[in-house]
Amino acid sequence: MYNSKIIGLGKYVPEHVVTNDDLSKMMDTNDAWIQERTGIKERRWIKEGTDDTSAVMGAKASKIAIERSGLSNDDIDFIVFATMTPDYYFPGCGVQIQELLGLKNIGAIDIRNQCSGFIYAISVADQFIKTGMYKNILVVGAEYHSNGLDKTTRGRGVTVIFGDGAGACVLSREEDTSKGILSTHLHSEGKYADKLIVESPSIKHWVPQILEAKEEDLSYFPYMDGTFVFKHAVVRFSEVIMEGLMKNGLNKDDIDMLIPHQANLRIAQFIQKKFALSDDQVFNNIQKYGNTTAASVIIALTEAWEEGKIKSGDNVVLAAFGSGFTWGSAIVKW
Ligand code: ACO
Repeated sequence: MYNSKIIGLGKYVPEHVVTNDDLSKMMDTNDAWIQERTGIKERRWIKEGTDDTSAVMGAKASKIAIERSGLSNDDIDFIVFATMTPDYYFPGCGVQIQELLGLKNIGAIDIRNQCSGFIYAISVADQFIKTGMYKNILVVGAEYHSNGLDKTTRGRGVTVIFGDGAGACVLSREEDTSKGILSTHLHSEGKYADKLIVESPSIKHWVPQILEAKEEDLSYFPYMDGTFVFKHAVVRFSEVIMEGLMKNGLNKDDIDMLIPHQANLRIAQFIQKKFALSDDQVFNNIQKYGNTTAASVIIALTEAWEEGKIKSGDNVVLAAFGSGFTWGSAIVKW
């Protein structure tokens, strides 16, 4: 058995910045409410007329990750792509990456686990590397939320939190099993699927039915019971971080860097307090990007690394919670 380690990281966010004040021109909201409840100051939204999509942004982030890994496109053996906002109902974004980057005819799978998507994606990639089946895997998380949000006062409880963007990493075989991804931990609780959901279009509620109902049917916009989600998030985040630490004989003092999914700064601050971590031990960038869902952990990890906040030998903890409900963690020895 091998371990896998991250050997290249990349991110891409659209240029177009949307501030809280910009949102207050579209709907009844304000900068103070958004910052106080979520910590978000601005987010990036793809501007109409540009070519960016989840797959295209994912390809841009991947190009950087592959370059930084020192590998060439031909070295990549497999693609794992996490998104809840794919370009098409089918096929998935993974195959688009294969084409956009001109990779060999390697396998590609899509992961549909929303905010936990990236943790699930690296866990899947890690298993393929552990068994020796593949050596180098491109793992991508990307979201194009802005085109699917309700940009009126009706949607303000959800719309203000989401941003667009992408991140990617190259996972590679590591012979030393004390390094790289030490363990991953995945969970779900489907009974709460309807607490955070985009219901349509789905095969049981397809476009003609939506059109027939005219404006009464809003099931194609994201719905979130924010307070309910928040309460579960803080519990599950804590549990799954502890689970990862315990599995590796670590305790909270051993955490050098926690990269939580950027769902809400208040959630991250709650976890920081609970684990008694200093500001240097937790990385947040939700202030700039909002919640980019499957892209959020990998964008944050990339930025933390770019800013020199992660050093060789550090214990890095990645954790996420989101729609499904799904949640997970990864413990990484950098
Ligand atoms: N601007 C101004 N007022 C608003 C806004 C807004 N953007 N949105 C809601 N309000 C109002 C509400 O209408 C409500 O008014 P009322 O009291 O008169 O009815 C009031 O503010 C409070 O609304 P709540 O929804 O109770 O606000 P809350 O404090 O719960 O914050 C939030 C909402 C930020 C969404 C929070 O619940 C949250 O972050 N939840 C967790 C999100 C999360 O972790 N999601 C998981 C990942 S996402 C994924 O997996 C896809």
